This record gives sequence, structure tokens and C-alpha cells, in this order.
Amino acid sequence: MLAREHWTPLNVAKMASEFLVTRDGDRVLDIGSGVGKFCLSASYYKPHAFFDGIEQRSSLVQHAVAARKVLGLVNASFFYGNFTRLNFSAYNHFYFYNSFFENFEGFDKIDNSIEYSQALYHYYSGYLFNELDKMPAGTRIVTYCSWQDEIPPSYSLERSELDGLLKFNLKT
Ligand SMILES: C[S@@+](CC[C@H](N)C(=O)[O-])C[C@H]1O[C@@H](n2cnc3c(N)ncnc32)[C@H](O)[C@@H]1O
Repeated sequence: MLAREHWTPLNVAKMASEFLVTRDGDRVLDIGSGVGKFCLSASYYKPHAFFDGIEQRSSLVQHAVAARKVLGLVNASFFYGNFTRLNFSAYNHFYFYNSFFENFEGFDKIDNSIEYSQALYHYYSGYLFNELDKMPAGTRIVTYCSWQDEIPPSYSLERSELDGLLKFNLKT
């Protein structure tokens, strides 16, 4: 149940990583990495790029780190904390699977370990919007199941797949 609603499907990770990685050594951040499914699968598909995940639930980070060890992937890393504490300039590109939707009533929750509020949705979306706006031209972000509230107008929508659920954005 959690997997279907909260973790990225493999075909999505493949399409997203194809768009996000343009050069060897690119660094991609998954904003809200959960159990690490996007970073782990993308690091398998793109062994010459690096995928970091930031996640606010420590138990999920522990699952991601354990899975990385079992899979022997050396180009994925996971960090515990709020994405607002990260330095975005350390990354070239970003992946975002509607991480803030949990804050709305009526959306399924992963668990009850954190506080939810619509104010947090707007705060996080606004914070991400500002960080993305500061990134240089050429920055890419793929969103999955997002309303794109966090994507500034300085990004153009290059294409979309899966009936518009998966969107490929490029900073111009
Ligand atoms: C829909 S899941 C996506 C997980 C993963 N990116 C994937 O695609 O499989 C969103 C995750 O974002 C995390 N999250 C939400 N807000 C966050 C924040 N402010 N900082 C860090 N992680 C956050 C949630 O705990 C959840 O695990």
C-alpha cells in the first residue's frame, strides 16, 4: 500500500534519470527520499551520476541505507533531516515526488510521526520555489504527481509523460 502511493515506480525512476543526468558526475537531489526507491533505482540506471536523498523520517533513512548496502550501490547517499537545511548549490538537478501533499487532509499519510498542516505545505512549496529560482540556467527538475506549485516561471516545461503525472522542467 505504502509502495504504490508513496514510492516512485521503476519506470518513472528510469525516465526521470534519463532526463536529469546530462553529464557524468552530475549530482541529483531527491527532495523527500522516503525509503530511497528513486535514488536507488536511478543510481543503478545512471552509474556515473550521484544521487542524494534527504528525508525527515529517520526510520525511512535507515531502510534506505540498509537497501543501498544490500544492493552494493556506491553512487547513492541518504541524509536525515529537513530539506530546508540543505545547500542546494551542491546539486545540479532535482527530483520531487509530491513530498508535501501529506500536509493536506484527505491525503494518505505515511505514518503519524510528524505534524501536518496546510501552512507547512505552503511554507515548504514556497521555500523550494525560491531555492529553485536561484539555481543556474540548465538546472533540471522532474516532478511526479505534483501541482508544480514549487516550480518557478524561470523553468520551462519541456515535456510530460503518463497523462501529465510526470513533468520534465528545465531552467532557462
Ligand atoms: C511521496 S514520498 C516520495 C519518496 C521518494 N522520493 C520516492 O520517490 O520514492 C515523499 C517523502 O518526502 C518526505 N518529506 C516530506 N516533507 C519533507 C521535508 N520537509 N524534508 C524532508 N523530507 C520530507 C516524506 O517523509 C516522504 O518520505
